[in-house]
Amino acid sequence: MASASSTAPVYGVAPLRAGQGSSFVLRRLHSLTGIIPVGAFLFEHILISNSTAISGPDAYARQVSFLANLPLVFFLELIGIWLPIAFHALYGFYIWYRGDANTASYPWSGNWMYSMQRWTGGIAFVYIVWHTYTMRFSGTDLHENPVASFGKVAAEVHNPWLMAFYVIGLIAASWHFAYGIWLFCAKWGIVVGDKAQERLLSLCLAFFVVLTVVGIASLYTFHSRFQNLPGVTGNIASRHAAIKGAQ
Ligand code: HEM
Repeated sequence: MASASSTAPVYGVAPLRAGQGSSFVLRRLHSLTGIIPVGAFLFEHILISNSTAISGPDAYARQVSFLANLPLVFFLELIGIWLPIAFHALYGFYIWYRGDANTASYPWSGNWMYSMQRWTGGIAFVYIVWHTYTMRFSGTDLHENPVASFGKVAAEVHNPWLMAFYVIGLIAASWHFAYGIWLFCAKWGIVVGDKAQERLLSLCLAFFVVLTVVGIASLYTFHSRFQNLPGVTGNIASRHAAIKGAQ
């Protein structure tokens, strides 16, 4: 016979429960990696590192140089960023594909937030792959040449289509992370009770606005100070030269 708790309607997000074999461990790991290290990295990337661009190319170059000179930086990136993102993203697509019974009951009509969490994850994935490839693995190596950092990003977002892509990627990742904090707290039983969850939701939405506004302010700075391009080579430099020539 089904227990009362398994037949009663579940409001809000169901907590992650043990007893589901390896999928419980993987679900917990997926949930945790969304906050640490992936979410922590996104926080640092938008609110600390990239926002230094607002203070100008020199400040930005110093910040990139600081990051590039961290000890064992390649392994830090591999273990602290790339592998956790790859796991979170691939398992996230699997959860999406499976339709996921564990979180079927999200608040608000039509499970709108449920769909948003999946679509923003998917958009962020496309954006992250592109962004990592262009900024880290093609053109000027910014770890070797941090002074070229501002110009490399500036040339990228000077293209209006790429600027739009950056803004969409930023909004998708910010929403996904901010609402993800709320989901995490609900699923791990950190914030329980309707009132407390409502208050947390307001905080998370405010955090989404902060991430988006600071991110757009940084992008705007890159866009408006496009001329500074010391040391940039490869496709971006020739595109920059072509645009400058046409001006
Ligand atoms: C910008 C990088 C990302 C960050 C910071 C991030 C962060 C988070 C956080 C904090 C959560 C809430 C944890 C939870 O549900 O308990 C979450 C959930 C989720 N993420 Fe991500 N994520 C990122 C990228 C992705 C990508 C690329 C996908 C691929 C589709 C994805 C798919 C999902 C899914 C499906 C959920 C909901 C799981 C559920 O409802 O049970 N995420 N993410």
